[in-house]
Amino acid sequence: MIEYEIKKIKHATQIIKGQVSKPVEILMILGTGLGNIVDQLSFNHALDYKDIPGFPTSTAPSHAGRLVFGEFAGRSVAIMQGRLHLYEGWSAREIAFPIRVVKALGATKLLVTNAAGSLNPAFNPADVMMITDHINFTGHNPLIGPHNDALGVRFPDMSNAYDRIVQRHIRSAFDRNNIALQEGVYAGITGPSLETSAERRYLRQLGGDAVGMSTVIEVVAAKQCGFQVAGLSAISNRADGGPDQLPDTIEEVLEIAAIAGRKMLTMLPDLIRSWSKGSGVNKND
Ligand code: HPA
Repeated sequence: MIEYEIKKIKHATQIIKGQVSKPVEILMILGTGLGNIVDQLSFNHALDYKDIPGFPTSTAPSHAGRLVFGEFAGRSVAIMQGRLHLYEGWSAREIAFPIRVVKALGATKLLVTNAAGSLNPAFNPADVMMITDHINFTGHNPLIGPHNDALGVRFPDMSNAYDRIVQRHIRSAFDRNNIALQEGVYAGITGPSLETSAERRYLRQLGGDAVGMSTVIEVVAAKQCGFQVAGLSAISNRADGGPDQLPDTIEEVLEIAAIAGRKMLTMLPDLIRSWSKGSGVNKND
C-alpha cells in the first residue's frame, strides 16, 4: 500500500534526523570501485543500511552498505556507499527508497557514479564519461504501481534528466583540473550476466556509449521527487562486442574503475563548489 510506503519513508527520515541534525544538500551514490571516495570526506556520522528502518541492504562486491553524512568541499553531503541493484533481487521500488528518504532530509542535488563498459570504440578503460542521458533497458521502472503525489508527479519529465546546466559545471571542472572527459549515453541493463557481444553491438546501435547495471532506476526516482541530477561513469572495460572483444573479469573492472574514480575525486571538490554556487534551477536551457 502506498500510504504504508510513505509512512516507511517518514519513519526512516525521522530516525536519521534523530542522529544527523544538519540538512543534506547533495546526495552522492558511489558505484563499483568508487566507494573509497568516502575517505576524502570529513564525515560526522555513518549509518549502516541495516540500521535504518526500511532500507534494503546492499550485497554487491565492493559495496559497503552505509549511508555516510559529512562535509565535502564545504557542503553538506550524504553518500550512499554501496548501492542497490536489480540483479541482487531488489525491486525498482526498493531501489528508489533511499533516494526518497534522502530527498526528505533536504537534498536537492544527486551525483550518481558507476562503473560501466564502453560501447563507444573511442573510449578507453580508465576514462571518465559524463552521462548526458540514459536509456533504460532494464524493463523495470520504480514508479510502476500505486501512486501518491507525496512522492512527486505521476509522469515525471525525463527530457533533461541529467541537468544540462550541471553538465556545463562538470565540463569546466574537468577542464580546470586538466582531466580528459568523455561524454555519452548510459545504457542500463539488469545484469548480472554481462552482455553477449551481439547484445553490445545492439546497444551501441541503439544509441548507448557505455553499459552498466545501475543508475537508471535511481535517476527515474530522483527525477520524480525533484532532484537535479548529474552522473559520471568510470569506464572499466571495453564492451564494444567487436572482433577483439576480450572477456571481462570483476577484478579488472574494480581495478580500472578505481583509476577512473581517482580522476573523479581530483575534480570533485571543484565541481561541488561550482554546482552549489551556480546551479540555478532545473529548467530546460
Ligand atoms: N557491462 C555491464 N555492466 C558493467 C560493465 C559491462 O561491460 N562494466 C562494468 N559494469
